[in-house]
Amino acid sequence: MKPKVLITRRLLPEALAYLKENAAVEGGTAARGLTREKVKEKIKDKEGLLCLLVDKIDRAIMDNAPRLKIIANCAVGFDNVDLDHARKKGILVTNTPGVLTETTADLTWALILATARKIPQSDRFTKAKRFKGWELDLFLGKEVGGKRLGIIGLGRIGRAVALRAQAFRMEVAYFDPHRLSPEEEERHKAAYLPLDDLLASSDIVSIHASLNPGTIHLLSAEKLRLMKREAILVNVARGPIVDEEALAEALAKRELWGAGLDVYEKEPEIHPKLLGLDNVVLLPHIGSATYETRLRMAMMAARNLIQGLAGERPDNLVS
Ligand code: DGY
Repeated sequence: MKPKVLITRRLLPEALAYLKENAAVEGGTAARGLTREKVKEKIKDKEGLLCLLVDKIDRAIMDNAPRLKIIANCAVGFDNVDLDHARKKGILVTNTPGVLTETTADLTWALILATARKIPQSDRFTKAKRFKGWELDLFLGKEVGGKRLGIIGLGRIGRAVALRAQAFRMEVAYFDPHRLSPEEEERHKAAYLPLDDLLASSDIVSIHASLNPGTIHLLSAEKLRLMKREAILVNVARGPIVDEEALAEALAKRELWGAGLDVYEKEPEIHPKLLGLDNVVLLPHIGSATYETRLRMAMMAARNLIQGLAGERPDNLVS
């Protein structure tokens, strides 16, 4: 008999077909997906769960799943899963690392440039037929070439962002609790700085850290105040790393030049003040959203799930 698995939300058809060959699947087709209550109810008789980063898989859900062996999270981040509780219950947890690195780094750069060069604002202006001819001071942005890029979190994605910065002749500084060896710093052309120094000296600050108890509000009101008034902050990692209220306030008061955000503190809610500002570019968490990447993520999550159910060690075990 095939093992029973639950999929919380719509999966790409290729991954769904693979899962259906190997498991008795429930779910996986509805875009908005199952509510928390539904997940809690339907998980009761399941051995496997494939979920997305928007599904909070906590103690209450796991305690209602006596047969659950594995949670395959279709994301590299796994802050939505209570790892400690999974460990206590002997439930495996997997993620999808590596396959979204380049795509997320590309999006980071799209967001840096969109913010610095006011691309969305210019697009809206042009489509509204307000372009009446070339003007010397129309949509003046910021140059990135030759400036300092401060990267918070020099993991896979941070490094891919740093590599692209070389094409813009930027100086790259990084802060990470795990300092690289001098050889690695040389290889990535990135110089270590303590967080406060990085914030105070960078022209663009880009966040690539994971969300954990140590990074919640890492960019607090106090830290944001250290940044240059002319600086840009970009976040494609996780919303709660930045105090969104404090950021909105700083942008409104022009204490920061601009921000580009792909993630939010209480996603999908966005601080109302941010929505009304013209110096912030807002995206709907699309860092890894290319067809190729999302397919790789979905297939990886599906394979992890089937490996775990077959009693094998899944390729991308987090815990
Ligand atoms: C992840 O996988 O954690 C990303 O946020 C998805 O783009």
